[in-house]
Amino acid sequence: MAVNVALIGCGNVGQGFLSLLLEKKKDLEAKGIKINVVAVCDKIRGSAFDPDGLNIAKVLDLASKSDISAYPSVITNMDPFAVISKTNANVILEATWTDLRSGEPAFTHIKEALSFKKHVVTTNKGPILLYFKELMRIAEMNEVELRFEGVVLSGTPVFNLVRECLPESEIISFRGILNGTTNYILTRMEEGLSFEDALRKAQELGYAEADPTMDVEGWDAGAKALILANVLMGANLKLNDIECEGITSLKVEDVKGVLSRGKRYKLIAEGYKDGSVVKVSVKPQEVPLSDPLANILGTLNAITFSTDTVGDVTIVGKGAGGREAGYALFADLISLAKKLCKA
Ligand code: HSE
Repeated sequence: MAVNVALIGCGNVGQGFLSLLLEKKKDLEAKGIKINVVAVCDKIRGSAFDPDGLNIAKVLDLASKSDISAYPSVITNMDPFAVISKTNANVILEATWTDLRSGEPAFTHIKEALSFKKHVVTTNKGPILLYFKELMRIAEMNEVELRFEGVVLSGTPVFNLVRECLPESEIISFRGILNGTTNYILTRMEEGLSFEDALRKAQELGYAEADPTMDVEGWDAGAKALILANVLMGANLKLNDIECEGITSLKVEDVKGVLSRGKRYKLIAEGYKDGSVVKVSVKPQEVPLSDPLANILGTLNAITFSTDTVGDVTIVGKGAGGREAGYALFADLISLAKKLCKA
């Protein structure tokens, strides 16, 4: 079975995905995995559709000029709903911007795609935070898959790691650094850069959310911690249920001051079971340099899971960046494609 993919949202993440696919396409085809990107649409950059597969290099070039619509297309001016309902795509990649309050527009795109019996891969935290159970139910009803590896730690495996490598393990608690932007800012502040300059740099490098207050006020890390609790620990929590504090009150003097005392400020996310209740918090903590989390610098993120089977398991890797998040889409797509190509 051919794997025909449509990409909704062609910003940093979507372009990161397309570049990776372009790099790996030949190797994949040699292994019998043929992936055609048949449609791309982006609110700002335009759309393109060819049922036989788009020329990815050309789409990337046009995306960098915000002119995807210049691609000779079978149907022009496609919006996400046309891409879902009018193309031959059997997998929809959803990579639009994140809105943690409404989950839109991604929630509607994903629900629509699943209802059209299309598999969905997303890096969008909003819908998974707010509607995880509902979306999984719709996917199951329509006998398709919903995958979302990239919503926590971008391309560094978390959900696939737990599912594939820790079967039947209970996640008792987790503790980690879940936001690349704030970790990058704290690292640069230790070097003397102001909070504002470090944030600007993080935005230029494509790490920050479209609304960077989500990063610096802790809500992005909070959303990821909640997703971990809801998906891996069976909780059913919303953003209002957690204690959440960001890094906006920290000054360069504070960050340098704790370092001179052998500690580092880190934005730490924690989740643990208190009886049958799961509790989640995100707040800056002074972490001793002897703690492995103190040495997670820049856009690196890390999570330690405490399990009932093998004790503590820690994963460290980049938590933000277009290529990294694009790799999460790619990795989920390849596992799906392996199943579909066998079918
Ligand atoms: N803004 C997010 C971060 C992007 O900095 O971690 C990845 O989710």
